[in-house]
Amino acid sequence: MDHPTSLSSRRQFLAKASQGAASLSVLSGITLPHVHAAGSDQINIALVGCGGRGTGAASNSLGLKAQTRLIAMADVMENRLEASFNGLSNKHPDRFSVSADAKFIGFDAYKKAIDMLRPNDVVILATPPAFRWVQFQYAISKGVNVFMEKPICVDAPSGKRMLELGKQAAAKGLKVGVGLMCRHCRVRGELFDRIQQGEIGDIILGRAYRLQGPVGTCFTKPRDPKAEPSELLYQIKNFHSFLWASGGAFSDFNIHNIDEICWMKNDFPIEAKATGGRTDRGDYVDQNFDHYSVEYTFRDGTKFWLEGRNAMKTHNEFASYVHGSKGMAIISTAGHFPSKAMTFKGHNKSAKEIIWRGKQPEPNPYDLEWQDLVAAIVDNKPYSEVERGAMASLVTVMGRMSAHSGQAVTFDQLMAHDHEFAPNVDKLTLDGPAPLIADADGKYPTPYPGANGLYEYVVKGA
Ligand SMILES: NC(=O)c1ccc[n+]([C@@H]2O[C@H](COP(=O)([O-])OP(=O)(O)OC[C@H]3O[C@@H](n4cnc5c(N)ncnc54)[C@H](O)[C@@H]3O)[C@@H](O)[C@H]2O)c1
Repeated sequence: MDHPTSLSSRRQFLAKASQGAASLSVLSGITLPHVHAAGSDQINIALVGCGGRGTGAASNSLGLKAQTRLIAMADVMENRLEASFNGLSNKHPDRFSVSADAKFIGFDAYKKAIDMLRPNDVVILATPPAFRWVQFQYAISKGVNVFMEKPICVDAPSGKRMLELGKQAAAKGLKVGVGLMCRHCRVRGELFDRIQQGEIGDIILGRAYRLQGPVGTCFTKPRDPKAEPSELLYQIKNFHSFLWASGGAFSDFNIHNIDEICWMKNDFPIEAKATGGRTDRGDYVDQNFDHYSVEYTFRDGTKFWLEGRNAMKTHNEFASYVHGSKGMAIISTAGHFPSKAMTFKGHNKSAKEIIWRGKQPEPNPYDLEWQDLVAAIVDNKPYSEVERGAMASLVTVMGRMSAHSGQAVTFDQLMAHDHEFAPNVDKLTLDGPAPLIADADGKYPTPYPGANGLYEYVVKGA
């Protein structure tokens, strides 16, 4: 199977997106003029998943010049919702209108929050990614715009569902942003244009590094049922540890670097060949490896290497580079922002060989992604990042699947694979069971390369 869109149409889409970024940067500094389609200037926001990023995204949305207003909040944990409520109401008192009866708790809370929106308002989906397709589907049925955090799927079946839902949302004219905020970075946008114009020649290699200390959850002791009576909420709280909830630390953290390399290459890879293991993790109660090395191959045969590691006292690097036939480019140097993007005549990061250096200071891409989404809503322009977000999420899954299974995995094989980690994620209840059950020692199945075909783990006795 080919990727869901042809290369040429993807190129056109990306070229337009890049042009859009340039014109929107002009828009971003001024008051948005257009009247909101539902009859007032106000764009109401509902927040689903009131944790760190959800609260941050809501704050970004309330910091816009457009008349945004937070009116509803939903979470499965009351303490998370209350902490977010207090933080946002203090920071944005003029834009905060969440009344006591607009705070919803539970696995169906998202429906109640979305039900408070009018068509053309926006729901923020910032739960762990397992719930993305469930909540996106409901938002589409209610005709509201969506901002959803990355990754937007955790396995191939949920990725295929997101691609299909993206088409349904576009057919309804809904505007959908996906939290790969680096795509909205203006300096990276200029780098993309320069690369497409041949400044460093044809791209022949990508390199990305997410080398850092331990991330996610690193418990050595199993869940204590007295302190954590709900296995399901324990897994949700520690979602980076569980593949069903997040796609694991690999999907959650590496997707940004994978996506920015694919952006510059203007394509998504068709194969992954990866290694990895749990050298440093010992008895950790989670499903992650602590190191991953992925060779991605694009359809023109060129490669992209991703190195991911979570270990103490090792070299730290959080950066992405591309090399062309005439030189190289820095896409990001130390995290998401500022990118400090640059191009060079040769393949060394030598001050003498600099061709171009992105203008500093760079605006915050977490604000820019909201400016772009809301500008599209106000101007009623087509706006969907779903296909691109699903593809980035899926090729991330492809790399992870290759490392966990110990097999080379093509995009076709990935898309044909039926392992859905949590097929009943839309039916979970606060007092119901978790999608993954611990064994008698309180441990969960971990990947074992070579043991289970393309399955990333198997549950004993299942
Ligand atoms: N774009 C970025 O740079 C960036 C940065 C951080 C996190 N993220 C993404 O944001 C998402 C959330 O991450 P986080 O760090 O905020 O996690 P978090 O644990 O701080 O927040 C998640 C919240 O969702 C709630 N929740 C879980 N399941 C729910 C459900 N079914 N319905 C309603 N609420 C539910 C949790 O109780 C919690 O309050 C993840 O997908 C993550 O990858 C993106």
